Order: sequence, then C-alpha cells, then structure tokens
Amino acid sequence: MTHILHRRIHHTLPVAVAAQGLVITDADGREYLDACGGAAVSCLGHGHPEVLAAMHAQTDRVAYAHTSFFTTDVAEELADELVRTAPAGTSHVYFVSGGSEAMEAALKMARQYFVETGQPQRRHFVARRQSYHGNTLGALAVGGNEWRRRQFAPLLIEVSHVSPCYEYRGRAEGETPEAYGARLVQELAETFERLGPDTVIAFVAETVGGATSGALTPVPGYLQGVRELCSRHGVLLILDEVMCGMGRTGTLHACEQDGVVPDLLTIAKGLGGGYQPIGAVLAQQRIVEAFSKGSGLFQHGHTYLGHPVACAAALAVQRVIHRDGLLERVRQLGQGLRERLHTAFGTHAQVGDIRGRGLFQAIELVAEREGKTPFEPGLQVHARIKAECMARGLMVYPMGGTLDGRLGDHVLLAPPFIATEADLDTLVERLAAGVQAALASLPRLQGSQGRQGHSA
Ligand SMILES: Cc1ncc(COP(=O)(O)O)c(C=O)c1O
Repeated sequence: MTHILHRRIHHTLPVAVAAQGLVITDADGREYLDACGGAAVSCLGHGHPEVLAAMHAQTDRVAYAHTSFFTTDVAEELADELVRTAPAGTSHVYFVSGGSEAMEAALKMARQYFVETGQPQRRHFVARRQSYHGNTLGALAVGGNEWRRRQFAPLLIEVSHVSPCYEYRGRAEGETPEAYGARLVQELAETFERLGPDTVIAFVAETVGGATSGALTPVPGYLQGVRELCSRHGVLLILDEVMCGMGRTGTLHACEQDGVVPDLLTIAKGLGGGYQPIGAVLAQQRIVEAFSKGSGLFQHGHTYLGHPVACAAALAVQRVIHRDGLLERVRQLGQGLRERLHTAFGTHAQVGDIRGRGLFQAIELVAEREGKTPFEPGLQVHARIKAECMARGLMVYPMGGTLDGRLGDHVLLAPPFIATEADLDTLVERLAAGVQAALASLPRLQGSQGRQGHSA
C-alpha cells in the first residue's frame, strides 16, 4: 500500500530502480527505452557522468544559499551562458524550479512591466486553445486545454483563447499554409480589437505545441505575423518553450527557426535535463530596464530560486550539448526519425498526421483517415497505446483530447539527443507494434481496420 497520492490512484506503477543512457530499469528487471525523455525532459538521457559530477561538486561547495542573501558563481555562470545563447536583446534570466513556475513568473513580469511603464489598464492575456502552459492557477488559466481547466474554471483569471496553429485540422482545402497563418493572425487581431488593444498585456503561445496538442508546428509566417501584430499594439509576446526549447527542435530555442524574438521566453525541462528541477524566464532588456528605472525589483520570489545544485546540473547539461555538437545531432536524428515514422505510419489507416521538428515529433491517431475522424474518447486509444508500448519496453508520451480537450489521440516522441540510429529503429519498431496491439484491442476494430491498411 502506497502513501503517495499518485497521479492515478487505481493504477499501479512499476518501480524505477536504475536509469542509464536511454534505458530505465524497473524492480522486476524489465527495461524500458526512454523515447520521450519522460515528458521531453531527459535530453542527455540518464546517468550522464559529467552532469552527476558537476552536481556532486556543487553539493560539496554550496548546496543551498537563499537568493535574498547571496548569489552564487554557478547561478551567475549559468545566466551568462543562457544570455550568451539567447535571442537578441535578452539581458537577464529569472531562475525558477520548473515550467509552471516559469510561466507564472512570466505572466507577472509582463503585468508588472505595464504597471512600471504607466499602463496599468493592461490586464488581459490572450492565449490559444489546446495549449498547455502548466498546472498552477495562472499557467492553467492561459492554457487552453478544456479538460484540464474545467473543474478549476471558477478560480482562473479571465483569458481569451484563439485558435491554435493546427494545420492538419485547421487549414482549409485549397488554402496555402501562408494564407492559413495570416487568417490566424487576423483572428488574433480581431480578439485584440474586441478587448481593446491597449488593455492587452500579452499573447502567450508554445512555439511548437507539446503535451496537449502533439508537436504542432507553426506554419510559415504565422509567428512573424503574430510578432508584428503584438509589436504594433504594444502587446508583449510570451513564448513558452518549456517543452520544445533547449535544443529539442534542433536549435537551442525553437523560435530561432521562425525568426521571431519574444519579449519573454520560458524554458525548463531540457534546461536541467531532469537531473534537477529548474526552469527560467529569459527577459528582454527593455523589460528589466523598466523594473530597474521603476520600483527596482521584480515583485515575486520562491525559496528555491537559482538553486545552486540545479544551476550546476543545468550548466553541465548545456555545456555538454554545446561541446558535443548535439543540436546538429538533433537535426540529423530528427530527419531520421521523421523518415522512419513515415515508413511505418505514412499509409497507416489509423494515423492521420505525422508532425514535429527535430527530436520532437508526434503521430495523430484517427478512426478513419479520409474524414480525419477521431476515435471515441471512451476507447482511450492513447492510454491503450501507452500500456502496449510499456509492455514492449518503450516509453512514449500519448495524450487524448488533441482536438478540443475531449476528442483526438496523439503520441508524442521526444527521445534524448544522445540516441543512436539503432535506438530510433527500436523506437519505431516497438511503437508500430504497440499501436497495432492497441488498435487490435479496440472492440470495433478487432479483425478489421486495426489490422488493415498498415504498411509497417
Ligand atoms: C509548454 C509547457 N509549459 C509549461 C509546462 C509546465 O511545466 P512543469 O510541469 O515543469 O510545471 C509544461 C509541462 O509539460 C509544458 O509542456
């Protein structure tokens, strides 16, 4: 009997007893290939000796020093490194302990910026449906996943949600990707107009959609259009790269590939690679300058800001990524993963879309491919795939509610950057077998669609 309130009370979890490279081993000796880095976290895999050594050394030096009393060399060095590699104009880093905390800090920073600069009437946030920004109340409020929001709705700040950039389902027939992107920007412009543009604080978006939408990539021109629109109205752009950032898409920041610089950029997961809980907000100089010229502080704080051991882990992770040329490797492996997914699922009757960037890719499952019909949510296709993949020694990150928080299933893949081509072979083989077994277990599909139209 456990005394932990686990995520699912009636579900029994295997006990992880060892983790090395891409493999996690449970107490029964079963091995699992980590093809999702947990939740796109373990970018260097498990047990990386240099990261462990850096953490040990920092523990011996200074394990903890509260940031209202001290700064530490290791936190300063990490901030220097992050600013050196950040989008143009970034001058400061605010360290926190994870993605939700990063989002909370970014939302408050954005609001305080307008208070400091004499625009206290700005109070609205605009974000996108199907997005995920974390589970604390502010982050949950900007998030657009209906299922996650519903029971907490009375507690959430008011946020306007616009359409996600979801080309597979949102782009009309005959419409170019560019025209689709422009249509979405127009929708955002209309939302700003409805609220009164000078009352809007920020537009919040994941550069590449993650957990609740499955590696949704922006169409060409979309984010540039968003950036221009925000700038025109003095609205801040907050890009959430908690999941898609820190190299996962093949560039350190995903937005580099879109040629867009946000005002605030949140990062976490791959920053510390799972070795320690750490996240951060990267802030543009003019925002910090407004604080500096105004109140002289950012009115926020947590006990574990800039935790030295977390900073040591993150610094080591980032140095390894840089030294070993892992961004280039992510681009190459990403191409290999895409090709393998297309070979395995390109003509699969129940796979409607394959999408993503770098080592951040997803497949979207459909009951019927022509009409892009989602499965009945009660079938829990995503949960079946997760279970069947685990039974085959494969960790992937499936999720339901892809379309609207209720309908739709996708499987997100985010293998460590140190994966090999052989790991990708194993990944896609086991995934194909897991998907097939899950589909074969569906009452309606047994012996029919579940086994047909499948090229793998
Ligand atoms: C894009 C995004 N933002 C924020 C979060 C929240 O991060 P955390 O779970 O570390 O609080 C997540 C977590 O999956 C995420 O994917």
